[in-house]
Order: sequence, then structure tokens, then C-alpha cells
Amino acid sequence: MKAALMSLGSKSSLMTMESMRKYFDAVDSVNIKNVEVTLGSKGLSILYDGKPLQKYDCIYAKGSFRYAPLLRSITTAFYDTAYMPIKPNTFTIGHDKLLTHLALQYYKIPMPNTYILSTVSAAKKILGKVKYPIILKFPQGTQGKGVMFADSFAAASSMLDAIETLKQPFLIQEYVETGGSDIRAIVVGDKVVAAMKRKAAGEEKRANIHAGGKGEPIVLDAHTKKIAVNTAKSIGAEICAVDILETAKGPAVIEANISPGLQGITAITKIDIADKIAKYLYEKTKEFSEKGKKTETTKMFTDLGVSAGNGEEQQIVTNLDFRSERILLPKIITKLAKFDEKEDVVIKAKEGKVSLEKY
Ligand SMILES: Nc1ncnc2c1ncn2[C@@H]1O[C@H](COP(=O)(O)OP(=O)(O)O)[C@@H](O)[C@H]1O
Ligand SMILES: [Mg+2]
Repeated sequence: MKAALMSLGSKSSLMTMESMRKYFDAVDSVNIKNVEVTLGSKGLSILYDGKPLQKYDCIYAKGSFRYAPLLRSITTAFYDTAYMPIKPNTFTIGHDKLLTHLALQYYKIPMPNTYILSTVSAAKKILGKVKYPIILKFPQGTQGKGVMFADSFAAASSMLDAIETLKQPFLIQEYVETGGSDIRAIVVGDKVVAAMKRKAAGEEKRANIHAGGKGEPIVLDAHTKKIAVNTAKSIGAEICAVDILETAKGPAVIEANISPGLQGITAITKIDIADKIAKYLYEKTKEFSEKGKKTETTKMFTDLGVSAGNGEEQQIVTNLDFRSERILLPKIITKLAKFDEKEDVVIKAKEGKVSLEKY
């Protein structure tokens, strides 16, 4: 199986690629800066270095918010043919804290009270009602750089005036007192594979490692783990980092990061996160391509004229589709057998054999 890691070539991406090479037959590094998307009535085409991008079984795409539209286009183009851990619209949601908070709200995931306003004058009205300190945020900031702390109306009001001159969207958020600490959990599939508690440096309020924060490994309780996994699900990401604040009322999510740095948390937790991601990608790709093969087998028999009604017993070699503990038979079997829902059937089964016959 062949995989592509589409990224900006960060150290974290290189770590992931090296791990992926242990599982996949081949892994290509695709720099998203050299990808070109063409839209037109003939369809969606993706060029890499001027040539059509080849077919992959797995595409793991990541990058910064600037590339969100490009990443969304690429993943849309390959949605049916390659396994991808991040859904096309997740690139838009995950790179925007406003949209992330909307998704969190929709799935009833706890978060600090957050105000979304379109104008500074509307925001100033809110400033008169909230308890201080508060947080002001740019929806597309990362590494703590778009997060501002205001401990009074005067501070918040002057910050809003500065924001207005930048003509940038923003959000206002209740400040949660945690002593400058937060939790970062890495979600892979339906598991938290690693987590750390970060503490901001000195008087700093932002716990980001890039803002000088220090991390230590932490084992999360089942409730916090579930919140992290549900956050990933709410934005449609199978791999992401989730930032959580510990409040008096329990965990509150502040961010989902679909392109998280792995170096810091790997060193702190001593967990080989890149390997966990690679292994997960491989398992899911296998599942994805087997499902595709199954559809193809059915299609092949249809193409070969194995259709209902010629009276002869037909044979299909395929693997079984288990739905929880039930077995779902292929559509072609329903067509061939012509069973009626109202009629009784005799099901005979022993180890390694099942037969079905009209009663
Ligand atoms: N509502 C809040 N209350 C208290 N601290 C916060 C709040 N929001 C963010 N922070 C602090 O700022 C840091 C960065 O915020 P976050 O929303 O994760 O943005 P970024 O994308 O820049 O990491 C967090 O790790 C946390 O330490
Ligand atoms: Mg963060």
C-alpha cells in the first residue's frame, strides 16, 4: 500500500513520515506549496510539480490555516479513492476557532463561555457585562500568538480598538483561572494516545510550549479522555490535538489542532506518537481498501452477468461484512436467492459453514 504525507515539511511531519515507512510499502512526501488545484466543468484536478498527482491508498494532509482551502480541495478530489484521516471540511473548521466552537456547541462538548461578534461596537456592549479578566482571540491564531489577556474593561476596550484597525474577526472568551496551566491530549482514532499538562512560564497566562510553557506527562481520567475524543469527532478529525482547561465544573475545551507539533509532547511523554499515528493510518487504510475490494467483487459478478434468475447455483468468494455481531450478506446474494421478507427460512450453521434455505 502506498501513502502520501502532504505537509509543509515540518519536523513533526518528517517524524510521522519515517514511522509511516515502517508500515506502508511506500510513502511519498508531498509539499503542499507545490500543489495546484484546477476547478472546472470537467472536474477537479490536482497537479503536483505540474504533473497529475498519482493515486495513493492513504493521504494524510496537514498544514497551517493559510492552506486550509487548498487542503480541503485536495482531500475532496481524493475522497473516494484514498483513506484520509481528516475530512475535507475539517480543514476549514479545524483552522478556525469560531467554527470549532460552533461544532463543540453542537455536540454539547463543554467549553468556556464564548462570544462571537461581528463588530467592535457590539463587542464593547459585551465588555460592560462580563466578569474580568477576559480573553480575546483571533480565530486563526496558533502557538498562543492570537490570544490576548485583558484584566479590565479599559484594557479590553483598547485592545478591541487595536483589533478594529486590523480588520480581523475575533472572539471574546471567559477567562478560566487554572494558574496558567492547560492539558494537551493527542487523539488518534477513538483513543487519547498521549497527554501532557502544560504550565505557563512565570507571569505568562498562555501555556503553549512556544510561549515558554513547560510540560509534564499526565494520565487523563476517562471523562476527560472522552471529551477529547468527542472533540476530535465533532470536527471530523481522526488525528488531532485537543487543548483543555481544568475548571471547577470539569474539563472545558479551548482548541482542536489538526496539525499538532509532535516533538515537544513526544519528548515529554516519551511515547512514540508518530508510530501510533502511522500504525493507525496503516490499519485504517487496509480497512478502507478491503471495503473497496468488496464493492469491486460485487461489481465484477454483476459485470460477469451473475444476475438473479438463471436458476443455477452461483458462487462468490468474498470476505464477510460484520455489523456488530451480525453478518450482512452482499446485495448480489439477496438478488440471487430472491427471498421474501415474509417467508420463513431454515438457517443451518456449524463452525466454518452456513446455509440458508426456504422453509
Ligand atoms: N479561556 C481561557 N482561559 C484561560 N486561559 C486560556 C483561555 N484560552 C486560552 N488560554 C491560554 O492560552 C493558550 C492558547 O490558547 P489556545 O486557544 O489553545 O490558542 P492557540 O491556538 O494559540 O494555542 C492556552 O493553552 C491557555 O493556556
Ligand atoms: Mg492551543
